[in-house]
Amino acid sequence: MRVLIIGSGGREHALAWKLGQSREKPDILVAPGNGGTAREARNADLPPGGIDRLMEFIRAHKVDFVIPGTELPLVNGIVDACARAGVLCFGPAAYAARLEGSKSFAKEIMREAGVPTADFAVFNDYAAAEKYVRDRKRPLAVKADGLAAGKGVIMAAGAEDAVAALRGMMLEKRFGPAGETVVVEDAIAGEEISLLALCHDETLVLLPAARDHKRALDGDNGPNTGGMGAYSPAPVLPENRMGEIAALAMRPVLKTMKKRGVPYSGVLYAGLMLTADGPKVLEYNVRFGDPECQALLMRFKGDLLELMVDCARGCLSGAPNAVGAQRTPQTDDCARGCLRDEALRPSSTTPPGLAPNDPEASGEGTASRVCSPQWTEETALCVVVAAEGYPGGYRKGMTVGGIEAAEARVPGKIKVFHAGTVAERGEIRASGGRVLGVTALGADLREAQEHAYAAVADIRLEHAFFRRDIGGRVLKAAGSMPGACGFCPERPDAARGEGRPPLADSNGSGT
Ligand code: GLY
Repeated sequence: MRVLIIGSGGREHALAWKLGQSREKPDILVAPGNGGTAREARNADLPPGGIDRLMEFIRAHKVDFVIPGTELPLVNGIVDACARAGVLCFGPAAYAARLEGSKSFAKEIMREAGVPTADFAVFNDYAAAEKYVRDRKRPLAVKADGLAAGKGVIMAAGAEDAVAALRGMMLEKRFGPAGETVVVEDAIAGEEISLLALCHDETLVLLPAARDHKRALDGDNGPNTGGMGAYSPAPVLPENRMGEIAALAMRPVLKTMKKRGVPYSGVLYAGLMLTADGPKVLEYNVRFGDPECQALLMRFKGDLLELMVDCARGCLSGAPNAVGAQRTPQTDDCARGCLRDEALRPSSTTPPGLAPNDPEASGEGTASRVCSPQWTEETALCVVVAAEGYPGGYRKGMTVGGIEAAEARVPGKIKVFHAGTVAERGEIRASGGRVLGVTALGADLREAQEHAYAAVADIRLEHAFFRRDIGGRVLKAAGSMPGACGFCPERPDAARGEGRPPLADSNGSGT
C-alpha cells in the first residue's frame, strides 16, 4: 500500500515512523516532509496550488491512502476530492472540517449540540465588536474566525487589550480574510487538556488524554505557539472520566454532523478546559495535535495503519473500545475485511475512555481486533526545541547535531522527531520555528521528564530554546527544574527575540 502523508512537522514525522512499523510494510511518501521523514520514509515536493494539483500528484504517484497531517487540505476539500477519485483519504469532508476552519461554525455546532462551552458572540462589524468588549468587563478571548496558523487567538485581560486585538484582526487585517469575522469569548480558567478520538459517523475510539503547553515560555508566559511540549497520559483527566467527557464534548458533535448530512470521519480533537463548573470545549481541531501526536504515538502499541484505514473505511465499530458501535451487516463486512486470524485476541490493556461501569466497556456486541488501539502504561513526554525568536521571526540554517546520542541515551525509550529541519548533504539543518520534538518514555511522568530533558541536553543546536517545565506542576512540586544544556544557556529572553542576531523571516506556518 502506498501512503501519502501531507505536512512537514513533528506530527508528520511521528506518523511516518509509526505507520512504517505496520505489518503492511507500506511505501510511505511525505510531502513535503522534513529531515527526519527523509530518513524514515521518502519525501516528495508538494505541488504548489490547490486541491486539483494535489489530486494530480496523488494519481501520478498511485497513492492508495492519503493522510493529511495538517488542517488546510482538509478544509480545502481533499477528502471530498479523493472520494470523487476513488482514493481512500483519512479525515473529515470539507463541510465537517469547518469545525476547525471556522471558529464561529464550531460555536454554532456546539450550541446546537448542547456542548458546554464559554459564552460568546460573533461579529463582522468592528464598531459592534468594540462596544461588546467594552461592555463585557471581564477577561476575554478574541479569536479570528478562520485559520491563522495557530496564532489567531488573543487572550485579553481587559477591554483595551481586547480592542487592540479586534483592531489588529478586523481593521489592520493582520490575519487577512481569516480575521474579518471574529468570535469574542469569555475567558475561562482551569486545566487545559487535549482529548482526541478516531471517529466515523457516530462511532468513536478515544485516545488517551494529552496535555499540551502552548505558551512559548516557562510558567505559561509569552506568546501562544503551536505547542512547546506535551505529555500523555494526563493525570488531571483520569481514565475513568474520559467516557463522560466524550459523551459531553464529542458524541453530540458527531450526532449533529450526521443530522446535518455530513457524518464526521477522522480525528476529532477537543481542546478542553476542566473548570470548576465542569469541562468546557475551547476549540475543535480536525487532525492530530502537534506535539500531542508525538507523545501519543510513543505510547501506541497497535498497527496504526490498520486503525487509520479502518477509520477512513468506516470499520471502527468492531474495535472493543469503540463507543457507539452497532453491529450491522456493513460493519461485519468491514471486520471480515480488516481482521487477521492472529488478531483475534483480547486487548491486553484496559481500553481508555470508558468508565469501568460503562456498559459499552464490556465490548458486548463487538469483535476483538488487532487494529483497536493499545497503549503502553508508560508516560510519554515531548519537549519541543525551537529556533530562537519563535513564534516570531527566527534564524534558519543552523546545523543540528546530537540526535543519535540523544536517542541512544536510553535505548528504545527516546525518539527525536524532526519538525523544521531539512537533510542537506548528509547534514540536518534547522529550517523552521519548531525544530525538534525530543520525546521520551518513562515509568511515570517524572521519569519521562528526566529521560526527555537528558536527551535534550545531548542536542547541539545554536540559537535555540526550549521550555524547561513540560509537565511543570510535577517538576515544581519536586522542587527541581532541568538544568541548562550545552547548546542553550539560560536565556529566558530568547523567545521574545531580545538580543538575538539578524533573523530570517518567520515562515508564518506556526511550525
Ligand atoms: N498542539 C495544538 C494543536 O495541535 O493545535
